[in-house]
Amino acid sequence: MIKSHLGIISFFITLLGFVNFSISQTSLDATTMQALKSSLNLTSDIDWSNPNPCKWESVQCDGSNRVTRIQLKQKGILGTLPSDLQNLSELTVLELFLNQISGPIPDLKGLTRLQKLNLHNNLLTSVPKDLFSGMSSLQEVFLENNPFVSWEIPDTIKEATSLQNLSLSNCSITGKIPDFFGSQSLPSLTNLKLSQNSLYGELPSSFTGSSLQSLYLNGNVKLNGSISILKNMTSLTEIDLQGNAFTGPIPDLSGLKSLRVFNVRENQLTGVVPPSLIGLSSLTTVNLTNNLFQGPTPLFGKSVGVDIFKSTNSFCTDVAGVACDPRVDVLVSVAESFGYPKKLAESWKGNDPCVSWVGITCSGSDITVVNLKKQDLSGTISPSLANLTSLETINLSDNVLSGSIPSQLTTLPKLRTLDVSNNDIFGDVPKFREDVRLVIDGNTNIGKDGPSRPSGSPVASRGRNASGGGSGSDSSKKSSNVKIIVPVVGGVVGALCLVGLGVCLYAQKRKRPARVQSPSSNMVIHPHHSGDTDDIKLTVAASSLNNGGGSESCYSHSESATSDIHVVEAGNLVISIQVLRNVTNNFSEENILGRGGFGTVYKGELHDGTKIAVKRMESSVVSDKGLTEFKSEITVLTKMRHRHLVALLGYCLDGNERLLVYEYMPQGTLSQHLFHWKEEGLKPLDWTRRLAIALDVARGVEYLHTLAHQSFIHRDLKPSNILLGDDMRAKVSDFGLVRLAPDGKYSIETRVAGTFGYLAPEYAVTGRVTTKVDIFSLGVILMELITGRKALDETQPEDSVHLVTWFRRVAASKVENAFKNAIDPNIIPDKDIIASIEKVWELAGHCCAREPYQRPDMAHIVNVLSTLTVQWKPTEIDPDDLYGIDYDMPLPQKVKEWQAFEGLSQTGDDSGSSSSAYGSKDNTQTSIPTRPSGFADSFTSVDGR
Ligand SMILES: *[C@@H]1O[C@H](CO)[C@@H](O)[C@H](O)[C@H]1NC(C)=O
Ligand SMILES: *[C@@H]1O[C@H](CO)[C@@H](O)[C@H](O)[C@H]1NC(C)=O
Ligand SMILES: *[C@@H]1O[C@H](CO)[C@@H](O)[C@H](O)[C@H]1NC(C)=O
Ligand SMILES: *[C@@H]1O[C@H](CO)[C@@H](O)[C@H](O)[C@H]1NC(C)=O
Ligand SMILES: *[C@@H]1O[C@H](CO)[C@@H](O)[C@H](O)[C@H]1NC(C)=O
Repeated sequence: MIKSHLGIISFFITLLGFVNFSISQTSLDATTMQALKSSLNLTSDIDWSNPNPCKWESVQCDGSNRVTRIQLKQKGILGTLPSDLQNLSELTVLELFLNQISGPIPDLKGLTRLQKLNLHNNLLTSVPKDLFSGMSSLQEVFLENNPFVSWEIPDTIKEATSLQNLSLSNCSITGKIPDFFGSQSLPSLTNLKLSQNSLYGELPSSFTGSSLQSLYLNGNVKLNGSISILKNMTSLTEIDLQGNAFTGPIPDLSGLKSLRVFNVRENQLTGVVPPSLIGLSSLTTVNLTNNLFQGPTPLFGKSVGVDIFKSTNSFCTDVAGVACDPRVDVLVSVAESFGYPKKLAESWKGNDPCVSWVGITCSGSDITVVNLKKQDLSGTISPSLANLTSLETINLSDNVLSGSIPSQLTTLPKLRTLDVSNNDIFGDVPKFREDVRLVIDGNTNIGKDGPSRPSGSPVASRGRNASGGGSGSDSSKKSSNVKIIVPVVGGVVGALCLVGLGVCLYAQKRKRPARVQSPSSNMVIHPHHSGDTDDIKLTVAASSLNNGGGSESCYSHSESATSDIHVVEAGNLVISIQVLRNVTNNFSEENILGRGGFGTVYKGELHDGTKIAVKRMESSVVSDKGLTEFKSEITVLTKMRHRHLVALLGYCLDGNERLLVYEYMPQGTLSQHLFHWKEEGLKPLDWTRRLAIALDVARGVEYLHTLAHQSFIHRDLKPSNILLGDDMRAKVSDFGLVRLAPDGKYSIETRVAGTFGYLAPEYAVTGRVTTKVDIFSLGVILMELITGRKALDETQPEDSVHLVTWFRRVAASKVENAFKNAIDPNIIPDKDIIASIEKVWELAGHCCAREPYQRPDMAHIVNVLSTLTVQWKPTEIDPDDLYGIDYDMPLPQKVKEWQAFEGLSQTGDDSGSSSSAYGSKDNTQTSIPTRPSGFADSFTSVDGR
């Protein structure tokens, strides 16, 4: 009984409380509305004068007189929003858009019934930190076009679980797109507009499977990464990503059955516009301008509005729907396997891959080389490469490629080299023909059954940016793999006669029959394909030439003499591509002497039988270099003339072609004679020859180190860069080529694997370059000459692989005359020879001292070696005479002198062609688009300035 009374009483109390509460809420609304009224500073044309706000214009209340809607759009309102707005707890609609309301958006947490919040186009200055916290009824939010201070989208938006339209364009938002706009957190969200903010980063993975229909992210500038997730956003009808930094291809969009608008203008998208987009029947508008799309220009249906502006993409042709050249299709599909990298899309445009496409070298219209070494490529190797049946060289080394080597590549009939070293390739290595050089090292998971060619351990530290050579001015750490060059034969030499076309250069001043050493009679032109990985490449030879006598004939029929060869300002010889094509049999396979990092070297034969070596540089190596810089480098190199440096005789620039013409060195490289003599059918070098070669090299390098104004550092001395003439005298090649590479390419990192054994430790570790780097390398070469062992010899037991390390150990051993056991067994030693070897052994040790300052300089080395060589003197050679060539004078100038000397009057011979052949400054070379580059700065100049 009592209990039930209590129950009734408590019911009434509750009821009273409720009524009381309701009344107080209503009056609270009124108070809040008064505050709003004064805060908004309403103009008189809005009638908010009644004491009951429910009677106010544009305000609605429910049956309990609670305010539910406030809708004052476009009323010229100037004021601010009151901080207690959230007391209007029954509010469902707040629309104040298109006014000039300023100040912050107040805390709105209490507005749990609010469904629409529309404050766009005002002058609001900030957003509460916990925006939308607890506002689970919120469906539509429009805050665009307010001058907020910069803010990030807070996580509390997640609490607005009913959100359908969120429009925050031009709201000064920064940060990343949060990862909760998917169906998990905001299952109803259909329109998301975040345009014109400062968002950055990638599309969040939560977009997968979202029910978004409109996605506007245009104008954020820095949004980037792939757009592949669009594939999974199948509800989309409008996509606007214009004006960002998205990369990669358009994904398969065939699942987006309702897509109408696809705007990706002004991004960096690549790849072929997929049929899955072109075929979408729902499409009405497509904008593709200003990207890097490749392949054919897409042809959309008639009802689709398209802006493509082909020229701003990398399509193969301008005509929509027209197929590409099959070579383009193949290369685009190769690029696809790499994920369509931007770098390739920028370069691989148009319909002719033979025109300056990065990494592509052609012979005629046949693609012979794909060299994409160190291009930051990921993805896999496309089997489509096998469709390029003219391919001879594929170099994909120093990337991060995965997958395995496609077996299709084994079918390439002309393939000679496949280099995939230093990637993440795995799996079995398919079986290639025996004569294919396969380089697969540096792939941790590659099948063990592959024919692997060890080439030195990768060095852990890479000194690319280390600065400061000893002399301070060096800033370039590039290195070269190139090899080039060759010697004039027999010391004699030569005339370089570019004849078929009318020109002829004599490299010989006087006839010096006496000096030709015996080998000249059986001069063998020896194609040097060394077994060495890198090396040899160019070279031409002036050999067969005997001497001035033959020269008159050099000039002869000159159908096209006028533009074939020019002497340009600096006295360099410019040779037309046509001439070089002619003399190399159109760069035919048979003429290849070798291949290297900078290109392929062809033997050329002039009409009179004189041989030259033509280095045809890889377009990827030189394409970044402007014409002017290239020429200025060449100018320097052509001036470096010394009897122990392989001479650069001329060059050719034609379109993207850059060719260097060198003396031909008929006996190939030192490494062939030292390490591969058996395979090459040669005799082992005796000690006196080795000593003579060492001295030659030291002299050549000494010259480099002591040039009057600039000291040159070779940086890549090794036996494969030392070329031999028929007299077995040596010349150093490849100096200076480092500078021809684009900045950053062919840096020490890329080259280290090949030449690590020769690198001074400080260079390997810090990139620090001084002349002492060359001293170290020469020391290694001396060790090789003594021991007949390679700097890195993987066939040795593990602790002896690295020659310098092993040498030091032997040198430090207590055993008396330990060095004797290290002497190459092919050297037949007598007492004098042993004594000589011992001196060189010591010298080698000093040269390879760990600290650069402990190493001697080149003059000292020359001294030591020359005292040892007194017994063996090439009597026919007068050391002061430099073979009759004044190496300080530019060749063409010299030629003129010789002509005068010999009473030849070439110029008078044919007035029409001769002047153009020699004297014309009219450079009719094809011009090369000049690109900006720091090339000219990259000299390793170590002069004191
Ligand atoms: C809003 O409500 C709070 C507490 O409920 C109260 O203190 C404040 O005065 C109210 N503000 C207005 C303008 O009515
Ligand atoms: C309200 O409007 C009047 C007249 O337009 C103006 O003078 C006053 O400064 C405004 N007050 C506020 C708080 O904006
Ligand atoms: C798309 O969805 C599939 C299946 O849910 C998933 O495996 C894939 O990773 C998603 N793609 C992207 C780009 O998120
Ligand atoms: C996109 O393309 C359509 C159709 O050509 C065009 O009307 C529209 O102006 C373009 N939009 C942009 C942003 O370029
Ligand atoms: C490569 O050749 C194969 C076989 O002929 C062909 O099916 C494929 O489409 C070709 N690939 C490209 C990219 O042309």
